[in-house]
Amino acid sequence: MIMSIRYIPLVAFLLVCSLTSVMNAQDPLRDKLVVETLIRLKRFDVSDNEKLRGSVVRHMEIHKNTPKYVELARLFSIEQSIPELLAIAIEMPTANIGVKAMNTAISIGGIEVFEKALRTDDTQRTVALLQAAGQSPDPITTAFLLKYYKSAPRNRQVLTATALAITRTTNGQRYLLKEAEAGRLPAELTFAVGNALYNSADPEIQTRAKASIKLPATADFKPLPPIKVLLSRRGDPQQGKTIFFTKGTCVKCHKVNGQGKEVGPGLSEIGSKLSRDALYTSILDPSAGISHNYETYSLITIDGNIITGIKINDTDTEITLRTAEGIDKTTMKSDVDELIKTGVSLMPADLQRLLSVQELVDIVAYLATLTKN
Ligand code: HEC
Repeated sequence: MIMSIRYIPLVAFLLVCSLTSVMNAQDPLRDKLVVETLIRLKRFDVSDNEKLRGSVVRHMEIHKNTPKYVELARLFSIEQSIPELLAIAIEMPTANIGVKAMNTAISIGGIEVFEKALRTDDTQRTVALLQAAGQSPDPITTAFLLKYYKSAPRNRQVLTATALAITRTTNGQRYLLKEAEAGRLPAELTFAVGNALYNSADPEIQTRAKASIKLPATADFKPLPPIKVLLSRRGDPQQGKTIFFTKGTCVKCHKVNGQGKEVGPGLSEIGSKLSRDALYTSILDPSAGISHNYETYSLITIDGNIITGIKINDTDTEITLRTAEGIDKTTMKSDVDELIKTGVSLMPADLQRLLSVQELVDIVAYLATLTKN
């Protein structure tokens, strides 16, 4: 008798079930076979079968930190993978895998998963989560991001990251545009939101954004063009080097190949670390993303003195802050009344005022040449 074709999946499924019991329980090859068969049969609900779920989970472990892991978690809705998915999203928030991992975590565990993950004091972590979630156009995430923007307790970086996540959808762009038109857009968001809306795919949003959001002016009194325009311009690295070491004042805080002060991070290999796009943002909107270990602290002494700088030493007895002028000031812990992270970069936010648009383009052209050998 010829078996009817519609029984083939059933037979295959029964085969898998018998494989699970016959073969060695820890055999990775068997796990692989089980998973492949389940996928072929489109039998993704393994919640009621411990053995099948065990195979899927063990098979996923082999693919940890890969797109395949995320894909399997999504297909089989594996709840216990949520912490791992969040870790991937935080590790690679702007890469495809990170975005998919975030998406998958939310689709398995609901928006509560995201909400819970955001309850942390770790700014870098929060920013990464927001970046990853911002790329998810599903309505629940979008609505949540909007709610978070309106209500969240936030520092400057978290605020920027939330606003940028919102600008990923046209509805979000419209919301922020209306806020700007009503004069309610916080000043510290002008640069980030302005750039995003100037680049909107919707021409009406573009036009209205240009009318209501002004990017800061440069030394030649022209408003800064959006980053997209800056990226299309050609710079002269040699010229940029001269400006970096002179009127740009960058050398007052950055070391390049042994020259300069060490207030901010060394830039000798910055061209390998940051894209030109990211270089522009670092220079024009420094507080939008503060480099790790370069957070600004304000220390208030018992006598009422305030010292602001980057923490370069912190022992049981004393604490040393390096000021924007590159001076190290040490205070005894017993004299400290309060120590707070300001959330604002020590790098001035208005450096473009010292530079013409062309000089800015030249500096970035120069920084882009500073790569690892
Ligand atoms: C008063 C000190 C100061 C001046 C002046 C200054 N910076 Fe900075 N810069 C910093 C600090 C502090 C950081 C680290 C905090 C942050 O990321 O905002 C930083 C960060 C950067 C970064 C990101 C580095 C990284 O590793 O991610 C770049 C790029 C940069 N600065 C370029 C410049 C350029 C170009 C100039 C001149 C036009 C300049 N800076 C002027 C203090 C300064």
